[in-house]
Amino acid sequence: MGKFVIVGGNRITGEARVGGAKNSVLPIMAATVLNGKINVLHDIPHLSDVEIMTKILKSIGCEVTREGTTIVVDSTGLSGCEIPESLVREMRSSFIFLGAMLSRCGKVVISYPGGCEIGPRPIDLHLRSLREMGAIIEEKHGFLYCEAKELKGTEIQLDFPSVGATENIMLAAVFAKGTTVIRNAAREPEIIDLENFINAMGGKISGAGSATICIEGVETLNEVEHKIIPDRIVAGTFLAAAAITKGNIILTNIIPEHLQSILYKLKECGCHVVCKNNTVKLQAPEKLVAIDSIKTLPYPGFPTDMQSQMMALMTISDGISVFIETIFENRFKHAEELMRMGANIKVDGRVAIVKGVKKLSGAMVNAKDLRGGAALILAGLAAEGKTIVENAKHVERGYDHLEEVLKSLGANIQYL
Ligand code: UD1
Repeated sequence: MGKFVIVGGNRITGEARVGGAKNSVLPIMAATVLNGKINVLHDIPHLSDVEIMTKILKSIGCEVTREGTTIVVDSTGLSGCEIPESLVREMRSSFIFLGAMLSRCGKVVISYPGGCEIGPRPIDLHLRSLREMGAIIEEKHGFLYCEAKELKGTEIQLDFPSVGATENIMLAAVFAKGTTVIRNAAREPEIIDLENFINAMGGKISGAGSATICIEGVETLNEVEHKIIPDRIVAGTFLAAAAITKGNIILTNIIPEHLQSILYKLKECGCHVVCKNNTVKLQAPEKLVAIDSIKTLPYPGFPTDMQSQMMALMTISDGISVFIETIFENRFKHAEELMRMGANIKVDGRVAIVKGVKKLSGAMVNAKDLRGGAALILAGLAAEGKTIVENAKHVERGYDHLEEVLKSLGANIQYL
């Protein structure tokens, strides 16, 4: 089992380029089954989640080749409609194949994704919406058997702007008869990227990025070439690494608009931040100031995927910060690990109160999920002495060669 070994104290300084967004790549890879043709995707990070997605595509008859950061998916030979259970269990977001496969094949068998490390993640919104479009979905023995001779465009009102449900509906609606309207849709930048990808192959989607998305059904799609948008959470994590180590960093290939809520909080804790074109420069203060409150919300609110990294920062800030996690129930598992490093945190349900301490001290800690693991690495960069972050596999799901990039920015970190 891999682990990161960090000797804290070095400032993070220098320049790094941010690669393609994991949360864009995964649904777009699922969407490659739609056209039954060649899909060329650029700026694909090296992540274990991308490898799982590749395995799924191959298991259903697609050809997938990779050269550097470009992946070519040829979905001409798509033959199967069963998504292997073991792979769905390894990665919850493989559930996005539900909409894509229903669209292309009119049929799919997929195992129930179940809970995950950040708490129960229901799929009721996905299923209800697809049923409203005419899909027949039977749930038995832990599997979902889905069929739709013809999906029909309809008006769908989401109770919550779920990212995954919005994507599944968009994918299902591509070939549906008539127009599908999604209201209270998720507005994340990754939804816009999916719209751009599908439209580039001849789909007719409009409104992504707003709360109402319209999808007009089409009959066929073409070959496509697409570059993935930069990862706003990876960018936020590197900015936080500089912030927690009194460093300064320049990130290239970012979209400033996507980072606004994160940059706003970094400024609030005393960082000097300047965006110019597609770069951002951050200079950290000598002492971070506590942020009164950080509440996670759907985009454009503060992202739940940056909550744990921001908590790591606040552990050594001057003052008290309150975190309110409104998206996932069980997303404070990093708090107890940070406490092993000397942090002062009290968790009560969806609220965590962090009282800044003078310093953290290196300890053996356990990454329990992807972003929580990143938070522990940040804490390790700032802590006195050696920190060992076990269960590195969680972190590898979402950060491309993290150890090498941090090393190039001055960190003392090893992957063992
Ligand atoms: C996506 C992201 C994840 C991010 C999350 C919220 C990907 C691959 N993952 O996850 O990194 O943290 O958005 O920004 O893009 N819900 C229901 N019923 C449903 C679906 C969701 O109640 O049918 C609830 C969930 O339990 C959760 C909330 O809605 O409380 C948000 O979930 P959702 O937006 O669907 O997140 P994901 O798409 O799973």
